[in-house]
Amino acid sequence: MGKLSGKKKLVVSVFISGRGTNLNSLIEFSKKKNSPIQIALVICNNKNAKGLNYAKKHKINFLVVNYKNKNKAENKILISLKKNKISLICLAGFMKVLSRKIINIYKNKILNIHPSLLPRYKGLNTHSRVIKNKDRFTGCTVHLVNSKLDSGKIILQKRIKVFKKDNEYSLAKRVLKVENLIYPIAIRKFIETTL
Ligand code: GAR
Repeated sequence: MGKLSGKKKLVVSVFISGRGTNLNSLIEFSKKKNSPIQIALVICNNKNAKGLNYAKKHKINFLVVNYKNKNKAENKILISLKKNKISLICLAGFMKVLSRKIINIYKNKILNIHPSLLPRYKGLNTHSRVIKNKDRFTGCTVHLVNSKLDSGKIILQKRIKVFKKDNEYSLAKRVLKVENLIYPIAIRKFIETTL
């Protein structure tokens, strides 16, 4: 998969399932002059995902796969990753769990952003659980993906205060803004310190 040598940009694929604000933030980041990444491929498991419009707008290759047959979908994904010479995968609101096969092939080369302060609140509905437990802080986390859900090494985390008047929607909105900010920072940190 190759190390990052000199000023060569790392070729990245972003996986999405829906709205795509994190994808948009990564595209903006990739277009910055000193960006260490180039986004060559967007993978999506939902043909109606709004986020696909960002790929179209920026003329980035995209592949929509049907996860009804997970094995078939992942084989298609692997072929496309190879064809596009992808060396880093960034999950950005991708709501499917990758199989061990992909995780092993891209070992320590898959990042994910999660809307909580991991290891708290792995899985879904993070914000409603934060509200229900009356937590004073929440946050978001960029981490490496391993075969256990939301459990890989943490690359970057940002803490966010929960206000008394917050509900799960206001919190989700505020956390998402911070996610969009930290994902590029985490990728730069990951590349500079790990690769
Ligand atoms: C983000 O909040 C992301 O952290 C979350 O989905 C949202 C996607 O938003 N991901 C997960 O919950 C993964 N388990 P976006 O499509 O606007 O980037």
